[in-house]
Amino acid sequence: MIIAIDGPSGAGKSTVAKAVAQKLGFNCLDTGAMYRSIAWYALENGVGLDDSAALGRIAREKQIAFGHVEGDPVPRRVFIDGVEVTDAIRTARIDRSVSVVSAHPEVRAALVDQQRRLGHAGDFVIEGRDIGTVVFPGAEVKVFLTASNEERARRRVLQNESRGIGSTDFDEVLADIVRRDELDSSRATAPLAAAPDAVGLDSTGRSIEAVIDDICARARAARVVRG
Ligand code: DC
Repeated sequence: MIIAIDGPSGAGKSTVAKAVAQKLGFNCLDTGAMYRSIAWYALENGVGLDDSAALGRIAREKQIAFGHVEGDPVPRRVFIDGVEVTDAIRTARIDRSVSVVSAHPEVRAALVDQQRRLGHAGDFVIEGRDIGTVVFPGAEVKVFLTASNEERARRRVLQNESRGIGSTDFDEVLADIVRRDELDSSRATAPLAAAPDAVGLDSTGRSIEAVIDDICARARAARVVRG
């Protein structure tokens, strides 16, 4: 079974996806981390963010892998080409460049291929922007998770504070969220959009636990209906 969780940055997708996967015993795939890893690799190696051919080559050829911290069932560690980038892909520098990188059709085609191969391997919660629309349009459960801009910025600041990486300035984070929404929603290939059959969940003023329980209940119902 595939549970697709799409939505803008900071809506709580990562927290929700990882908790749902843990509760249901599913695998979990953070596709944003894959786009971030390509952006990181490009910046590290002096590849221009407008060089679609070179970026596409990186996405096709460099292996992205996920790993576990010992004792943690959810894979939170990220590697590209054997180098761990778990923290390096969460910096403000990557926040600023990842929307540009992820807009290139060559990059998307390569990563979508990998996401499909991975997802076909079992039960998965997959979070991103285009999972319910493009990557797995046949996903049994599709959720489009949103929250107000201010709520998303507030959460991102708290997350950055606890991780000790990324900006903790509310206005800067809010501006970045608005800018990335604009870029992610207006790009030509696979823009951020809710699938027509996705359930819209607004997490503003709602506990993350309630959102997690809601999605788990939908997954259990879908499994019963499917038999
Ligand atoms: O979810 P995130 O903030 O880690 O995603 C990072 C960027 O990657 C985001 O700006 C949009 C892009 N992205 C995408 O285009 N498609 C996806 N399936 C996931 C992320």
